Amino acid sequence: MSKTAIETVNLVKQYPAVLRNVRNRHPWMAWQVGGLREIFSRKKNFIRALNGVNLKIYRGEVFGLLGPNGAGKTTLIKILCTLVLPDSGEAYVNGYNVIRESSRVLRNLQAVLGDPRGFDWRLSAKQNLEFYATLYGLPRDYAKKRVEELLDLMGLSDRANDMYQRFSTGMARKLQLCRALLLDTPIILFDEPTAGLDPASAVDFRRLLKDKLAKSEGRTIFIATHNMWEAQTICDRVAVINRGEIIACGSPENLKMYISPEKNYVLTIDGYCDALKMKEFMNEASGLCGVKDLRLQADNASVRISIRVDKDFVFSEILDIMVKYGLKIKDVESYEPSLEEVFIALIRGGKQPI
Ligand SMILES: Nc1ncnc2c1ncn2[C@@H]1O[C@H](COP(=O)(O)OP(=O)(O)O)[C@@H](O)[C@H]1O
Ligand SMILES: [Mg+2]
Repeated sequence: MSKTAIETVNLVKQYPAVLRNVRNRHPWMAWQVGGLREIFSRKKNFIRALNGVNLKIYRGEVFGLLGPNGAGKTTLIKILCTLVLPDSGEAYVNGYNVIRESSRVLRNLQAVLGDPRGFDWRLSAKQNLEFYATLYGLPRDYAKKRVEELLDLMGLSDRANDMYQRFSTGMARKLQLCRALLLDTPIILFDEPTAGLDPASAVDFRRLLKDKLAKSEGRTIFIATHNMWEAQTICDRVAVINRGEIIACGSPENLKMYISPEKNYVLTIDGYCDALKMKEFMNEASGLCGVKDLRLQADNASVRISIRVDKDFVFSEILDIMVKYGLKIKDVESYEPSLEEVFIALIRGGKQPI
C-alpha cells in the first residue's frame, strides 16, 4: 500500500471573474442588459484559485495548508472532497482519482467545511447525528452507541437532546466534527477547524486532532488555516499557499530556517565577572568560525552577552571558552522567528525552493 494519503499533480482551478462580479451585485442587476452581456460574452476573465498545485501528504500526518484569505485553501479542500471539479491536473485520495473514482474517494475521507450546514434546526443534536448515521448506512444499534460516544467525546452529552437551533456557533462546529467522525475514514479534511471555538474548546480540539485522531488512530489530518500558532503546534508539515501557488512546504522548523539561517542567543552571566577575563573571552569567542556578532550589555543588575551564529554552529564551543575564563552562566535565552514571521516573509518575498 502506498504511503501517500493525498496527492495533487498540477492542479488548476479557475472561476469566471465576470460571474463573480455579477453575483456580487444586487441579484436583479444580473438580469439587466449589462449583466446578461457579461454572462454570455465570449471574452471571459478568469481568476485562478489554484495555479498548478503539487502536494504529497503522507499517511498518519497532520498537514497544514497556510495561506491568506483568497489563497485557494477552501477550493483545494472542495476539490479533494469532490464538491468542485478541477479544470486540469489530477488529485488522488488514498490512490483514488477525485474525478473518476469519486465514490471511493468519499469512502476514504470526511470533510469538515467552514460553516456547519446540513443540520435540521428542529431536530436535536442526537437526532441529527442519528439521521446522518442512517444515511451513511451504519447499523442501528452501533449508530446509537457511536452517536453517544461522539457527543461525549466533544463534551456535548448534556445538550444532546437540545434542538439544534439552540446551539451556539462553537457547539454547531463540535457537532459537525461528531458527524465527520461517524464513519472511521482514514483521512479527515478541516477548513479553519477552530474558527468559532472558545480558547478552552480550541485547545481540547487540537489535542483531539493530534493525539487521538493522528497519533493513536493513525488517521491523516489535513487542515486549512491562517492560524499560525495552530499550525506550528499541531502540524508535522505545512505548505504555504498564496494566490493559488504553493510557495513553501516543509516542517515548521524547516520553514523557519528559510527566512533565518542564523540563531540568536542571549547569555546572562552569573555573579561578579572580572573585566579582563571578559575582554579575553570576547576576543576569543568572536574569532570562532560561525560567530556573526557578539555584544556585551552590562548594567547595574546584570551582564549579558548576545550572540548571533550560523544555524549549524556548535554552541558548546562558546561554553568551553566560558569555562576556560571562569565565567558562569545564569540563564540562556534563544530567539527563533515564529511561523507568523516566516509566513509574512514568504508572502512578501515569493517562492522558496520546495
Ligand atoms: N464559487 C466561486 N465563484 C467564483 N470565485 C470563487 C468561488 N469560490 C472561490 N472563489 C475565488 O477563488 C479564490 C480562492 O478562494 P478560496 O479557495 O475560498 O480561498 P481561501 O479559502 O484560501 O480564503 C478567491 O479569489 C475567491 O474569490
Ligand atoms: Mg477558505
